[in-house]
Amino acid sequence: MAEFALPRNSKINGKGRVHKAPPGAKRVKALKVYRYDPDSGQNPHYDRFEVDLDETGPMVLDALIKIKSEQDPSLTFRRSCREGICGSCSMNIDGRNGLACTTAIEDVKGEIRITPLPHMDVIKDLVPDFTHFFAQYASIQPWLKTVTPDPSGKERLQSPEDRAKLDGLYECILCACCSSSCPSYWWNSDKFLGPAILLQAYRWIADSRDEMTGERLDELEDPFRLYRCHTIMNCANVCPKGLNPAKAIAETKKLLVERAV
Ligand code: SF4
Ligand code: F3S
Ligand code: FES
Repeated sequence: MAEFALPRNSKINGKGRVHKAPPGAKRVKALKVYRYDPDSGQNPHYDRFEVDLDETGPMVLDALIKIKSEQDPSLTFRRSCREGICGSCSMNIDGRNGLACTTAIEDVKGEIRITPLPHMDVIKDLVPDFTHFFAQYASIQPWLKTVTPDPSGKERLQSPEDRAKLDGLYECILCACCSSSCPSYWWNSDKFLGPAILLQAYRWIADSRDEMTGERLDELEDPFRLYRCHTIMNCANVCPKGLNPAKAIAETKKLLVERAV
């Protein structure tokens, strides 16, 4: 991805620092990391860090943690599970959105350039501001909605076939790699829900136990919220969980057409 994919507040012309690998390191890997501190009053810049691969774990997140522990404690990034479950460590690694904890250092040739997710406001360094993203998530009311009483008073059962319809949807970890790779979302994120939230919306539409399908479709039937998807497909190409938000969007559009005829 070219420079246009950088975060919003990212005129990179500040002076970066270079952190050399320890003397004697034999397998040195360099990481060029986006730095931005709103309290410094300075422009964003890149810092260059060298790590010794013989002393570092195999993943990009391992390298970032080592840098923070040993070279620069002010380096700021999100992480939690370190195994692709929580979605916290999403960032742009060498031009591609992904999870730092599941991206192997050795899979990136040469210097690794790391920036925050593209076209999102940045709070600090590699930490994007997810306030709007999660407000959009809340707007689709991501929980089971029913009007009839529970049949057994205990739980709502689902056949294995109906449960299988949620495969490819429930696995979403809300990392925003897809939405922040979608040009339509870059330019219209104020009104377009974007692939991640539309996949989540379809997850509840597709749930046989949910009784608000019509209302959920009404909410999406809008020139911006749903129809700003122009099938660019970056979302499906980039999802670190192998999901296909474009397919969920297409299924939603299909349901809207079906109920109109
Ligand atoms: Fe992340 Fe994939 Fe969910 Fe998008 S669909 S938020 S890329 S897990
Ligand atoms: Fe964007 Fe994916 Fe549609 S990249 S335009 S949401 S197919
Ligand atoms: Fe949880 Fe990477 S730390 S997904």
